[in-house]
Amino acid sequence: MRIAVIGFGTVAKSLLKVLAEKSKLILDEYGVEIKTVGVFKKDGAFINTNGLDLEKIINSQNYRSEEEWVEAANFNKIAGELNCDCAVELTPTNVETSEPGLSHIKTALGYGMDVVTANKGPLALYYPELMELARQVKRRILFEATVAGAIPLFNLVRNTLRANRIISVKGILNGTTNYILSRMTSEKLPFKTVLKEAQRLGFAEADPSYDVDGIDAAAKLVILSNALLRKECRFKDVNRQGIRDITPEAIELARKDGFLIKHLAISEDGVLEVAPRLVEVGSSFAVSGSLNVVKLQTDLAKDLTLIGRGAGGVETASSVLNDILELAILRR
Ligand code: HSE
Repeated sequence: MRIAVIGFGTVAKSLLKVLAEKSKLILDEYGVEIKTVGVFKKDGAFINTNGLDLEKIINSQNYRSEEEWVEAANFNKIAGELNCDCAVELTPTNVETSEPGLSHIKTALGYGMDVVTANKGPLALYYPELMELARQVKRRILFEATVAGAIPLFNLVRNTLRANRIISVKGILNGTTNYILSRMTSEKLPFKTVLKEAQRLGFAEADPSYDVDGIDAAAKLVILSNALLRKECRFKDVNRQGIRDITPEAIELARKDGFLIKHLAISEDGVLEVAPRLVEVGSSFAVSGSLNVVKLQTDLAKDLTLIGRGAGGVETASSVLNDILELAILRR
């Protein structure tokens, strides 16, 4: 399996690290050899069509001086020369244009590659079109890492809830807002102080308004609704309210009555909503810190609740790697 990794942020670097660490296990357990033939940054790429030395890339102090560095190499321009099976699209989310991810995905499909992505923008804006394009060229787009980081939602439904109808999805899909609300509750700290903490800890988006205004959670809810509820919808269809106006006083009032304020994402009866809501102390949504929780209501299996890490480099790379392996096994 020959892959190209596009993007060089936290998730991409973690993926390269995990690929380097796990290559022997992957070969022994699954009989799959994953060769990374390109790693694309903003200003160029590491290219070696025989497979890159990932340790060298991760540890490089001066990447421009590396033998395999090609200045200004752009995936859309050179994709055809890579002889690559799968593009791993890990550039930052943009919910206005969804670029550069959208072009990368279209280019990859155009050259007959499968796609694995952690980038929410292209799917939040163009899920139906991208899936149709993949169907036309007989390739797959796998996107487990786009929603709830390490929690295997799409794989769970695809492989272990076959023939179930997913009736509704309800959850906490953004780790940063959950962290902020949890700390405001337990430590009685003001919003701005805790937001800074979340940024320092590294799970906030590059632009934290994506977290606190519910943009990130709304994008995830759209992907869940398209993929699991089979509801054709887009980012603009979500009723969205952030958490900027939640005060320590409001949290304290709720707590006195036995409730917590949580930032919930709900897709039910054709309505998509992201907003602060009261949940009972002790309910399955009363998870604290940066954890995510997702409750699926299904017709056969009934209710399932999953809790796990929704952010973090290695955690998200876990889902990306599993998607790559699924495609590799299908191609064997
Ligand atoms: N900023 C996101 C979060 C990262 O806090 O959940 C994962 O999408």
